[in-house]
Amino acid sequence: MSDFTSNFWSVYVAGLALAGILGCLILLWVTARKKVAASSDNTTGHVWDEDLREMNNPMPRWWMWMFVLSIIFSLLYLVAYPGLGTYAGQLGWSTRGEYEAEMAQARRELEPLYARFAAMPAPQMAGDAQAMAIGERLFMNNCAQCHGSDARGSKGFPNLADGDWLHGGAPEQIHETIMQGRTGVMPPMAAAVGTPNDVKNLAQYVLSLSGSPHDSLRAALGKPKFAACAACHGANGKGNPALGAPNLTDDIWLHGWGEEAIAAMINNGKTNQMPAQAGKLTEAQIQVLTAYVWGLSNKPVAAR
Ligand code: HEC
Ligand code: HEC
Repeated sequence: MSDFTSNFWSVYVAGLALAGILGCLILLWVTARKKVAASSDNTTGHVWDEDLREMNNPMPRWWMWMFVLSIIFSLLYLVAYPGLGTYAGQLGWSTRGEYEAEMAQARRELEPLYARFAAMPAPQMAGDAQAMAIGERLFMNNCAQCHGSDARGSKGFPNLADGDWLHGGAPEQIHETIMQGRTGVMPPMAAAVGTPNDVKNLAQYVLSLSGSPHDSLRAALGKPKFAACAACHGANGKGNPALGAPNLTDDIWLHGWGEEAIAAMINNGKTNQMPAQAGKLTEAQIQVLTAYVWGLSNKPVAAR
């Protein structure tokens, strides 16, 4: 409701709700007054199927009182709960408030469970079966839609299980990634590289960095153009986790392999975002997830 600029719709909805209740009252009152002239045998005189007669009895009292009670109930309900336009109700109840109360309750119940993990470093937590069972469930509910249920990702969504990292694979870096999110930005670079042919030659050079099949003559022509890329991907193409610039020498491709895919990266650039989870998950949940993700590509360390 608060999305509207005037309160017209609020008044409209409240009016409809009250008019409906009033309409019921009037209906009840009118039908209670109306007397149908009855014949001496107390029938309305209507006959169907030869001998089926309609009796002219009043509505049962109890039924009428139920009707009145439900009208009183609906009015009390509308005073207590939100139902009349933007009026919030005397009890201050809201679906959002109820959701938040339930979430807070669930967090309180889970606190003792997470307390056991609080002092555990990620490499040790990764070896704890209970922590990893929770981590897997958290991952399925919050991460799998993008990274896949096996965490192996897909085009544009990094594989979290291969030990290859855009933003670094130490527990602190994974923790920071999950807390704050990450945005990988590669600007369109075609203007800095030169002609479309230069872009294709450079793509061949990028392919050569990982020993992928390539045209070595054109790669050699493209090599000097890599100067434009070195600021982020490093002079040797090994990437830079501080910028989220991927290693181009490892034959792992986030945005596709081959001359065409690489030329498209150079021409169009890419902005790729991992959403921050700090507002969605608790610190304790993020610690467990950090250990879970770290454990996908590392061996857990036993407690000393
Ligand atoms: C809406 C899709 C989406 C969701 C949901 C999501 N991620 Fe991501 N995540 C991404 C994208 C896209 C990237 C790559 C960002 C980039 O290119 O820099 C990423 C990157 C990451 C990275 C860094 C990988 C690296 O190589 O450095 C980690 C770790 C990660 N996500 C973990 C998680 C976890 C844990 C969750 C669940 C709490 C999660 N993600 C939920 C889309 C998502
Ligand atoms: C300003 C920094 C920056 C510059 C300059 C830059 N890149 Fe990138 N590049 C990135 C980032 C960041 C990504 C990852 C985008 C993402 O998070 O999805 C990327 C991704 C790529 C990829 C995709 C890798 C994959 O795994 O699919 C290729 C290929 C690439 N860059 C090639 C180049 C080439 C060639 C140049 C030079 C013309 C260049 N980049 C210049 C930052 C840069």
